[in-house]
Amino acid sequence: MFTPMSVYLDNAATSFPKPSTVYLAVERYMREIGTSPGRGTYSRARAADEVVARARAALARLLNIPRADRLVFTSNVTESLNLAIKGAVRPGDHVVTTAMEHNAVWRCLKALESEGVIEVAVAPCGRDGTLDPDDLLSLLRPATRLIVMVHASNVTGTLMPVEAVASAARLRGISLLLDAAQTAGAYELDVQALGVDLLAFTGHKGLLGPQGTGGLYIRDGIVLRPLKEGGTGSESVLERQPDELPDRYEAGTLNGPGIAGLGAAAEFLLAEGIRRVAEHERALTREALGRLSKIPGLLVYGPKDPDRQVGVISFNLSGISPADLAYALDEMYGIMVRAGLHCAPQAHRSLGTIDQGTVRASFSYLSTTSDVERLAGALHDIASR
Ligand code: ALA
Repeated sequence: MFTPMSVYLDNAATSFPKPSTVYLAVERYMREIGTSPGRGTYSRARAADEVVARARAALARLLNIPRADRLVFTSNVTESLNLAIKGAVRPGDHVVTTAMEHNAVWRCLKALESEGVIEVAVAPCGRDGTLDPDDLLSLLRPATRLIVMVHASNVTGTLMPVEAVASAARLRGISLLLDAAQTAGAYELDVQALGVDLLAFTGHKGLLGPQGTGGLYIRDGIVLRPLKEGGTGSESVLERQPDELPDRYEAGTLNGPGIAGLGAAAEFLLAEGIRRVAEHERALTREALGRLSKIPGLLVYGPKDPDRQVGVISFNLSGISPADLAYALDEMYGIMVRAGLHCAPQAHRSLGTIDQGTVRASFSYLSTTSDVERLAGALHDIASR
């Protein structure tokens, strides 16, 4: 049970708590609106449309997406990545990715590869999860259609050299898909400045929204094959999906309550200012790295530099397995962290931790310095036993 004395440090999996406006927006939608967005003309149906449009506009502002209709809602970042990858590639295409990807990218690419649709090349990463852009760019071929890379690793928080890859991709006419699962809402992210063509994000991590929400930015000029076909509430006489965005990629009833909460979360982050949010997470990361480095027998993975990573820290303590350490932190100190491979075995191969994985502590904008102190104190205690 979550008690006020507990410390939640698994925000890379899902953020908790949320801003109170998020809970209120979900409840208000459920109790006072409750209709299907995009499906009616009566006033409460129009209220649902307004909630969705407002959420889309707030997210577009947050990510500097030039036109809000280029942002389509999905149920999570995994769906966004599947839509982007499966919608972009054609038989015979070559796709380049990195050795730090989450299974949401990896399994999607491997499925297409095993079906003989695409060939995949993987750029190696260092033992701290870093990528040398030249290692990725040297893999590009005339048949390369897509580059898929994570913005920040969900295992080590390592930030990837997106701008260098984006400018080289643009020169060659190759699309770049960025997996922003760990950065959207938590870190400065501007799709135009970065020069990405497709950006996949989830609503329930750094964005502080409800689970079951996510989205995909699709640059103007890019046409994907939809992942699913069905009703859109528009052009219903057509036997195919409409061409217009966002309808083309939003078949079926949207998650109205979730999107209401996500919109409130995006407005909360806009009001706070993303620089302030990112600076808070950098300060917590700096504090945690400093404290953890003083614990005997504790090995931290990743860049160990708050300017080169987001608020995700992986570590191991000698003499105790990651699973046992996470269990002890929870049972004895009320501290919740994730242990194991974090659905990213490739990343653990890069780090050399594929056998047992790591323990991971991860922060959100609502984490505090006291949370970091509690974690470091508990680890000190366990290490000195
Ligand atoms: N991908 C999420 C994590 O890293 C669930 O924990």
